[in-house]
Amino acid sequence: MKGIILAGGAGSRLYPLTLVASKQLQPVYDKPMVYYPLTTLIEGGIRELCLISTPQDLPRFRQLLGDGSRFGLTIDYREQEKPAGIAQAFLIAESFIGKANVTLILGDNIFYGGDTFQNAFAEFKSGATIFGYHVNDPERYGVVEFDAHGKAVSIEEKPKSPKSNFAVPGLYIFDNQVIGITKNLKPSARGELEITAVNVEYLRRGELRVQRLNRGFAWLDAGTSSSLHDASAYVQTIEKRAGIKIGCPEETSFRQKFVSLAQLEKIVEAMPHCEYRSYLENEVVAEAKRQ
Ligand code: DAU
Repeated sequence: MKGIILAGGAGSRLYPLTLVASKQLQPVYDKPMVYYPLTTLIEGGIRELCLISTPQDLPRFRQLLGDGSRFGLTIDYREQEKPAGIAQAFLIAESFIGKANVTLILGDNIFYGGDTFQNAFAEFKSGATIFGYHVNDPERYGVVEFDAHGKAVSIEEKPKSPKSNFAVPGLYIFDNQVIGITKNLKPSARGELEITAVNVEYLRRGELRVQRLNRGFAWLDAGTSSSLHDASAYVQTIEKRAGIKIGCPEETSFRQKFVSLAQLEKIVEAMPHCEYRSYLENEVVAEAKRQ
């Protein structure tokens, strides 16, 4: 399984914050937003990644994440000239995907809790797997409707009259058919290659699974000033209460055995003295040495 992080777009809803740095580089409490989807992919065991962003912002992502080796990953970088739709990611990253299956995660989606994704990656064989999450404002999202047996029967993008309260979060698992499906898409009325149109095509082929995320699972999107603030407050609350970090790729790549204890120690030593470093030193490195 390969992974794509889509981190482009105009970020217009966060203006003027996004005048100098893209939305996915803004802080969510104590780290850049992109650390959270990055950590979700690492938790899922994905090591080959491609990050897509705008020509202006791509150098800053490179500066932040490098070639991925400090997380035991490889990271390719690709430009999206204009925000022509989420599904365009599969065309931009076609040579990166090759013949593999691929997971796409949106750079402003934050997930926390449970092992639903890990299991979905491990069990995935073919077709598409997407998720459904109960929200009170489904009209802002892709919306999936289920029949009485819990089978998905329709998916609509931002419907005026949603047929259910289940929104489709920004993490999608596809087999290699996704490239061909996207090549056959026509831009929507708003001029975009819609991810919902890809999901609708898998549904038509009878190859779409929609897994509901349970109540204990948190899905936050951080695309507006208010939701960005909420996401920061949520992360701060959990981190302070539990003494752990959410969205810490160094920790997760170590726990996944993508990097060794010796490598992690070197990475930590290169960090300036700060709370982030202390956490890794005291809660991760020291704990591993005690075991
Ligand atoms: O957050 C989940 C929702 O994401 C889904 O439920 C919807 O079906 C899906 O269309 C999408 O809706 P949004 O209205 O949130 O999409 P938005 O245009 O805001 O794009 C989501 C992220 O993807 C955003 O961080 C910017 C990035 N993006 C978007 C487009 C259209 C790109 O990097 N390039 C693009 O061309």
